[in-house]
Amino acid sequence: MIAVGCDHGGYELKQEIFKYLDAHGLEYKDYGTYSEDSCDYPDYAKAVSEAILNGECERGILICGTGIGISIAANRYPGIRAANCTDCFMAEATRQHNDANILALGARVVGVGSALKIVDTFLNTEFSNDSRHIRRIEKIER
Ligand code: RB5
Repeated sequence: MIAVGCDHGGYELKQEIFKYLDAHGLEYKDYGTYSEDSCDYPDYAKAVSEAILNGECERGILICGTGIGISIAANRYPGIRAANCTDCFMAEATRQHNDANILALGARVVGVGSALKIVDTFLNTEFSNDSRHIRRIEKIER
């Protein structure tokens, strides 16, 4: 199960991501926001982060205007590793090296086509399980 959340800046891109997830038969839960009315990105970062930490969902996608605010907020939750990615290289590397459990996207930064490729890469790349990467992640958690 994939947890998806956004603020007003990410609402439109979130609808496109839902179309992608539907087309690929991937299950997801929408944690809001549910309109383009102005709202506060930390609220959606919290909802998605908690869904992952309590085991309801395995991975998350968070979207705001830049991907910055919402990733900063999500990374305040111990155990969350949210990566703001602007290309597929970053999405692949953050799964392989950081075992990122949340992909953050900036709807005002990346176009829809790129965003969907980034989502695809993030969801289809496994953690390397390499001992040096495990060691570094453990240092973050400590
Ligand atoms: C909202 O206008 C905007 O500040 C927000 O979506 C995000 O870009 C914050 O980092």
